[in-house]
Amino acid sequence: MTKINVVILAAGQGKRMNSCLPKVLHKVGNKPMLEHVISTALSLNPEKLIIVYGHGGDSVKSSINESFLKNNFIWVFQDKQLGTGHALKCALPHVDNDGATLVLYGDVPLISGGTLRHMQELYDGGVVMLTAQLNDPSGYGRVVRDEGFQIKCIVEEKDATQSEKFINEVNTGFYILPNEHLGKWLNSLENNNSQSEYYLTDIIAKAYKQNIEIRYYTAEHNYEIMGVNNKLQLEYLERIYQCKLAEALLEGGATLLDKSRIDIRGKITCGMDCIIDVNCVFEGMVSLGDNVTIGAGCVLKNVVIGDDVTIRPYSIIEDAKIGPNSQIGPFARLRPGTDLIGGAHIGNFVEIKNSIIGQNSKVNHLTYIGDCTMGSGVNVGAGSVTCNYDGKNKFRTVIEDNVFIGSGTMMVAPVTIRPGSVIGAGSTITKTTEANELTVSRARQVTVKGWLSRRNKD
Ligand code: UD1
Ligand code: CA
Repeated sequence: MTKINVVILAAGQGKRMNSCLPKVLHKVGNKPMLEHVISTALSLNPEKLIIVYGHGGDSVKSSINESFLKNNFIWVFQDKQLGTGHALKCALPHVDNDGATLVLYGDVPLISGGTLRHMQELYDGGVVMLTAQLNDPSGYGRVVRDEGFQIKCIVEEKDATQSEKFINEVNTGFYILPNEHLGKWLNSLENNNSQSEYYLTDIIAKAYKQNIEIRYYTAEHNYEIMGVNNKLQLEYLERIYQCKLAEALLEGGATLLDKSRIDIRGKITCGMDCIIDVNCVFEGMVSLGDNVTIGAGCVLKNVVIGDDVTIRPYSIIEDAKIGPNSQIGPFARLRPGTDLIGGAHIGNFVEIKNSIIGQNSKVNHLTYIGDCTMGSGVNVGAGSVTCNYDGKNKFRTVIEDNVFIGSGTMMVAPVTIRPGSVIGAGSTITKTTEANELTVSRARQVTVKGWLSRRNKD
């Protein structure tokens, strides 16, 4: 296959987004549109990848995930946005002399690698265009053909005659162009059109005049060629993208109660027999073991979940590990650094942060566990708190195996609860407890005789 350079045009401002953020950095599936296009481009193993940026300047560069930045990655700055032809010309000094150049747009995020590979297969030294048939072609350049049905030129809508506007075959803006002719074509572009821009589309007429074959491929799905110019279109592509991810999960055997009510803003993998109820949001990398059930309205970000786990509704979990056979929620909050070894029960209105919770330990109601190392078989009663912060520093609480913490216990860190300790409800624990003994630390209950009648006399 011919070696290929990819140029991504991404300098435009996107006025209609009504946003300070450069258009190509707006996100689909929580990933900048430009990053989607870069990933797809890289899947073709291009000789070079050139990105033409302009509006937003270096913020565009710095927002792209560094893991992409390979040796053959070239950023080219287009100072003034004088048109798509001018943008490609800015990249010209970096384009190889031989081979071909594939042109992509930074604001058309859902173009598929498959479609681009079909275009590559069609390439034979001439031009390959990606076209689409649209019921409503408005806004797009129209593909004009000659009597022999050969593609002759492209007219932009703003320059089209009334009859040309009726053409339903549109230019998607994606082409493979032969490098040997590219310089000559780009250098001879003029801007005598309604927008006073250097149109890249004009090179099609130049190729036609030179009798260079112009082939075309039609994208399988129209969403692949749809660009984003405003927030409506951004939302439209977001929904399509989410639907594709949901369908992939279903095909992989996960049960989704409603494929239109799940949001995946990263990657999720599911073992066998996983069930995901409605309105869950998954961010970053989430991995579910076998037989995991996620209740409605959960938000999970960077979470690894073992087998046979149930997450009940409205739980929020971030940067955490949940070992097998655990039950979480409803309404639990597991913050970064939570590591549940397995068989844990974490109940409603419990917050856990930066803590290890040993095998089969239970924290079932209204409790805060922060900076804690908890052994196995522990039971923490309702309304208990590891007091880990003195206003300046954080301290650890160690709760050893088989401890029973009575309800409403304050554990003032740094403090250790020795194995088998039982803490009486309402205690404030500031010192190491004795193993296998009951510790109670609270004011004694007294009855103040006659207090009520004295008060009521005043
Ligand atoms: C372009 C095509 C049109 C096609 C449509 C498909 C031209 C003249 N027209 O029109 O035939 O139907 O795409 O979506 O090419 N860009 C730059 N620098 C510039 C101008 C644009 O980098 O100076 C980038 C933009 O960021 C964008 C892409 O090129 O990613 C397309 O530019 P845009 O202005 O949106 O072109 P359209 O008018 O939509
Ligand atoms: Ca556009």
